[in-house]
Amino acid sequence: MKKEDLFAHKSKSWDMNSKRVKNAKSIADLIVKNIKLTKKMELMDFGAGTGLLSYFIAPHVEKIVAVDNSPSMLLEFQSKCDEFSCKTEVIEKDLSSETIDRKFDGIISSMTVHHIKDIIALFSKFYTMLDDGGFIAIADLDSEDGSFHSDDTGVFHHGFDREALEAIAQEAGFKDITFDTASVIKKPHRDFTVFLMTAVK
Ligand SMILES: C[S@@+](CC[C@H](N)C(=O)[O-])C[C@H]1O[C@@H](n2cnc3c(N)ncnc32)[C@H](O)[C@@H]1O
Repeated sequence: MKKEDLFAHKSKSWDMNSKRVKNAKSIADLIVKNIKLTKKMELMDFGAGTGLLSYFIAPHVEKIVAVDNSPSMLLEFQSKCDEFSCKTEVIEKDLSSETIDRKFDGIISSMTVHHIKDIIALFSKFYTMLDDGGFIAIADLDSEDGSFHSDDTGVFHHGFDREALEAIAQEAGFKDITFDTASVIKKPHRDFTVFLMTAVK
């Protein structure tokens, strides 16, 4: 049975939130700074949504494959494909239960892994989906008190402890694991930091 599209009511207005755009731009800038991207690379953007992160990474790579389980978010992605400065492809897939039999030069992701219950299974899947020497660049919230989301539906982690995530990445086989702070999301009640974790197969 197909799961409910949890982002259906947010997809149309997703890009209108300037904090989201700023956050995606900061994450992309740090990925570009920390990883040697080339115009020959094909990347997967996991949980690409409307394509905020993909858009800023596009000028640096040959192709981005947007993977997401929300048809409504992917419709928004597709509606602006012409504006991306690289080739794009969209795949509707739930990576918590399914897999994609493809290999990429790298996997990027922004603000998505907290929606996945089993992170070791996800990272093992990422490992399989990478060419040798391929990279992951995953951005998400540092551990928070649960107040980031006003509605917790589909949220399995209140951010992540960096050391715990590093141990999981190591268990999945990744090496050269690094963490950096990519941005700070300011909400009226408090600030939330966003990390960028990079690692190599
Ligand atoms: C918070 S949004 C982030 C979207 C985009 N990366 C950004 O930064 O604007 C999380 C995205 O992850 C997708 N997602 C959540 N669980 C997923 C899963 N199991 N498989 C694939 N995509 C998933 C959602 O549909 C949504 O588009």
